[in-house]
Amino acid sequence: MLLSDVEVIDRIFAHIDAKSTDHGNEVWREPVENYSSQKRFDNEIKLLRRLPVPFCPSGALPEYGSYLTRTAAGRSILAVRGEDGVVRAFFNVCRHRGMAVAEGEGCVKSFVCPYHAWTYALDGTLKRIPGHEGFPGVNKEDHSLTPVQVEEKGGLVFVTQEDPVSGGALDHMPDLLAADQKVFDKSEFTDDANWKLVGETSMEGYHIKALHRESFYPYGYNNLNVIEKFGLNSRVVFPFRRIEKLRDKARDSWRLDGMITDVYQLFPNSHLTVLSSHSLLIILEPVSPLRTRYEIFRIGNQGVSIEKSLKDAGFVKDTGLQEDRDAAISMTQGLGSGVNKFMTFGQYEEGAIHFHRNLDRLLKKI
Ligand code: FES
Ligand SMILES: [Fe+2]
Repeated sequence: MLLSDVEVIDRIFAHIDAKSTDHGNEVWREPVENYSSQKRFDNEIKLLRRLPVPFCPSGALPEYGSYLTRTAAGRSILAVRGEDGVVRAFFNVCRHRGMAVAEGEGCVKSFVCPYHAWTYALDGTLKRIPGHEGFPGVNKEDHSLTPVQVEEKGGLVFVTQEDPVSGGALDHMPDLLAADQKVFDKSEFTDDANWKLVGETSMEGYHIKALHRESFYPYGYNNLNVIEKFGLNSRVVFPFRRIEKLRDKARDSWRLDGMITDVYQLFPNSHLTVLSSHSLLIILEPVSPLRTRYEIFRIGNQGVSIEKSLKDAGFVKDTGLQEDRDAAISMTQGLGSGVNKFMTFGQYEEGAIHFHRNLDRLLKKI
């Protein structure tokens, strides 16, 4: 169970008064080689395929027949909501000669492979082989799309591509999004940055004043966070200065809405950032040790119009996120210099330490 709104606010006020923050009690040294080594990268991809990782928000598949394809841990995956309302996912590979059976996103009644029109139902079964008399001995039953494991939980769709390792992000996962939260934008871009260097930028608030001097710092605090761990995941709360207004209000009316930015780290490569009017699900797809593709879903918050969400989305898109992107690119360029043997994480960077500790432990299991 995560802290209640009132518990978080109590803790924030205590930190404002004491000029303190939540923190851990150790310093962690992560070898620089773990960011640049191809062998380590290959193992991380193996692990990503064996964990339940967020594929998209449930709101990206709103209707029967809604589908979405994207590359996850190096493989094209197709997720679709069936006529029974259940989300299923498959490798996006035709069982005839391997072409992708769907592209992008949309809403369909069946999937028709663009190459020779083999046709699959929403549950992946092969329905039609044009000119089937030319395939004697080829059974339709043996040529369904190859499924991957799916779980829909708390407004997110998780996929596990193969042979699950026990203890993934789904253990202890609270419901983070409501069923009616709509996806209003999807974007992707690729940066020359290691995926962990990108992810780490969202795991601590120790850099707010230095890196986000003009963007976030005028509205927030430097190095003042509530940090909670849940399973392999963590939550980092970044309060806005306007939270002070609550001190004059009745305690039982205290709500966090509009007073904080909530960042939920969904182990290992996603985070859900809940802003005042909308939320961002950011999935970091490792492309190579030095390249990462961002897959970003913008989701409306409950009770906020899409127009307001869109207006606020522009600000975040152009400022704070860019500063974090540039930091990750710069650190990636520094990897090869040989100057540092370790990345040093202090007690204020407890969220990042939790991530590395768990990643290390799980990599040993595969
Ligand atoms: S490759 Fe799909 S129908 Fe031929
Ligand atoms: Fe940042």
